[in-house]
Amino acid sequence: MEQLQITSAAPDSALLDLPWRTPLADWPADVLAALPRGISRHVVRFVRLDGRVLAIKEISEAVAFREYDLLRQLRKLEIPAVRPVGVVTGRLDDDGEPLEAALVTEHLAFSLPYRAVFSQALRPDTAARLIDALAVLLVRLHLVGFYWGDVSLSNTLFRRDAHQFAAYLVDAETGDLHRELSRGQREYDVDLARTNIIGELMDLAAGELLDEDVDELAIGDALVSRYAELWEALTGVESFGSDERWRVAARIDRLNDLGFDVGELSITTDIDGTTVRIQPQVVDAGHHSRRLFRLTGLDVQDNQARRLLNDLDSYVAATDRQEDDPQMVAHDWSQNIFQPTIRAVPRDLRRKLEPAQLFHEILDHRWFISEQAGRDVPMPEATASYVEHVLRHRPDEKAILGAPPGEQDLDADVDAGPDSAPEDDHFHLST
Ligand SMILES: Nc1ncnc2c1ncn2[C@@H]1O[C@H](COP(=O)(O)OP(=O)(O)O)[C@@H](O)[C@H]1O
Ligand SMILES: [Mg+2]
Repeated sequence: MEQLQITSAAPDSALLDLPWRTPLADWPADVLAALPRGISRHVVRFVRLDGRVLAIKEISEAVAFREYDLLRQLRKLEIPAVRPVGVVTGRLDDDGEPLEAALVTEHLAFSLPYRAVFSQALRPDTAARLIDALAVLLVRLHLVGFYWGDVSLSNTLFRRDAHQFAAYLVDAETGDLHRELSRGQREYDVDLARTNIIGELMDLAAGELLDEDVDELAIGDALVSRYAELWEALTGVESFGSDERWRVAARIDRLNDLGFDVGELSITTDIDGTTVRIQPQVVDAGHHSRRLFRLTGLDVQDNQARRLLNDLDSYVAATDRQEDDPQMVAHDWSQNIFQPTIRAVPRDLRRKLEPAQLFHEILDHRWFISEQAGRDVPMPEATASYVEHVLRHRPDEKAILGAPPGEQDLDADVDAGPDSAPEDDHFHLST
């Protein structure tokens, strides 16, 4: 009797076509997608199915359900994490012997395991930028009460976000959601992160994948201090004299600058009203991406959004439209600058990077060649130069990024109007 069972919020019958009667380690090459993977305890494989790439992890039934539930809850809390697809149980091999259950998640498009980041760009500051991204993710998880239990570079995926990276949680197996975390729980998580990161970097160094200038201990310590700084900025109490009220606005500006919106801020005064204390109560990541989305319908990561908003600002100034309706101007900027720029990149090269990342790199390139030429190089000229001199020579990230040829129409995302928030999360981080 067939007893294979698929548990999923959005069941896809194509899942039934996969060779569930075979142990995952022995799946035939023709169903697998050869994409880079991080280090794992369990057998993990990627498969192409119906134009999607899925990640499959063989794991005990109880753990699979637990991780599936946690991933679902994290997505509801708008935490950047891999999207859970379902759990497959009741697997039997051809002799009727039971096989382990499987957790299925969507492969995170444009994501890079940290080893791929290192093997691509050995810039000495790369490690520091990964750590910054991981610190932001860890703070966001702790703000919603998630104790990770096994923070590490292997359990995180990275996506380019302008000059930075954005970190996504990939392995929730050891995690736990609480109403709130104690200081001790947070410290334990941070401490484990430090230990794991130092170990992972030492592994890379042993494999000669790490620049010799990278100091593993200093990077582990940097995570701890970045985390502490960010946590304090987001949750710390600040007090000042009642004649210094501007400091309320200054605090909000500072949080916006860190990429967070303030959902709720408590303000208290002492009995005689001479001292004011403020403390953010609710903060939400994605300040810039939310603003850009409201203005243009473009759904991109936060630092990319910041970059695009700056370009929009210069467009407003250059066209002298400070008095116009911001949404109208943003629409014109998108029509006249952003979209034509992306479209000017030949299709086969376009899929190497997300559109917003392309635009960001073109802006960088324009700055660079304008300086060399001693004049303001216009966007179309800069784009052509970028395509010829930079993009063409980049390693073909298609393979690394996991966008199979012809399966991802980037135009759809460039075109997304204000009413067409993408259903999938390929270009969605934190709104
Ligand atoms: N949905 C996914 N998208 C991209 N990569 C994934 C996905 N799921 C797993 N991986 C890759 O597989 C590796 C191992 O997955 P993980 O869940 O950490 O397994 P384990 O529990 O055995 O440690 C990750 O480091 C990551 O590189
Ligand atoms: Mg793992």
